[in-house]
Amino acid sequence: MKILAPDEIGIAFAADALRRGGLVGMPTETVYGIAAVAVNRDAVLRTFELKGRPVDNPLIVHIASADQVHLVASSFPAIARFLADAFWPGPLTLVLPKLPVVPDEVTGGLQTVAVRVPSHPVARSLIASVGLPLSAPSANAFMGLSPTRAEHVAPEIMEGLECVLDGGPCEVGLESTVVDCTGDAPIILRPGGITRSQIEITVGKLSDRATSERRSPGTYRRHYSPRTPLRVIERLGDADAGIVLSVDPSCPNQIRLPSDPVGYGSGLYAALYTLDRQSYGEIFVEAPPQTGEWEAVWDRLRKATGV
Ligand code: TXA
Ligand code: MG
Repeated sequence: MKILAPDEIGIAFAADALRRGGLVGMPTETVYGIAAVAVNRDAVLRTFELKGRPVDNPLIVHIASADQVHLVASSFPAIARFLADAFWPGPLTLVLPKLPVVPDEVTGGLQTVAVRVPSHPVARSLIASVGLPLSAPSANAFMGLSPTRAEHVAPEIMEGLECVLDGGPCEVGLESTVVDCTGDAPIILRPGGITRSQIEITVGKLSDRATSERRSPGTYRRHYSPRTPLRVIERLGDADAGIVLSVDPSCPNQIRLPSDPVGYGSGLYAALYTLDRQSYGEIFVEAPPQTGEWEAVWDRLRKATGV
């Protein structure tokens, strides 16, 4: 069995595998990732191959603390430092100017590097134990659902991993918020675990031109999708398979998620994973509220529907 308990032995095994150039399933508070030593070009390339991911879609580099930013970034602008102070460790990724030591393979040829300090204790122990920054995309095949449980890592991904450390269910359940800090004003490239208003409390109002103008290379329209077609609708019919929010399930094919955005985000991928395994013709999702705290959930739902 490749799923290991994240005890001393499991962490030591995984750290050793990483140092030898292997790939490891790493739990984070957002989703499970495919960790590799970020300066090992060969391991990084194998990460892309394993996911079937285009090589111009860059990876996030995971570090142990803000003190390690200087290992991968050539500068740490004040605004980025404010954000790091406020939200690290946690589900926030900062895009900064890169140092030459970060391989072009990691950054998809960009002169910037995306960096984050995860809060999950297992991710933190693993990074500390390896002693080097770890690149880690979500542990799903390109365009697929990100796993939020060790056992949700797909068999074809598992095959390329030395092991997966079982860190339990991911608390946040949605990927990190990616903020570009290389320009005059910060821009959210991908909404995620930290909301726009949380960021604005720290650094002031963000410009609205944002995401559409400077898109992150990885923000394809279709993404994060289950295999079963998904549709967001106002109210599920009594026999529709899918996710409800405001009402109790009316049949066993329905899963009810919490009505607050944090609880909902935490359970969304796991619910889609469960529904996707049932071979329904379509998965229906009751439309969540349109308010700002639901931005990341809406982003993932839109991408899952491909519209
Ligand atoms: O929560 C997360 O961020 C998870 C966990 C494992 O840390 N990781 C994750 O990685 O979601 P991935 O590879 O699935 O998504 C990384 C996102 C992509 O949208 C990518 O384009 C963007 O970060 N990104 C990475 N480097 C970038 C850069 N230099 N400039 C702009 N966007 C970048
Ligand atoms: Mg991903």
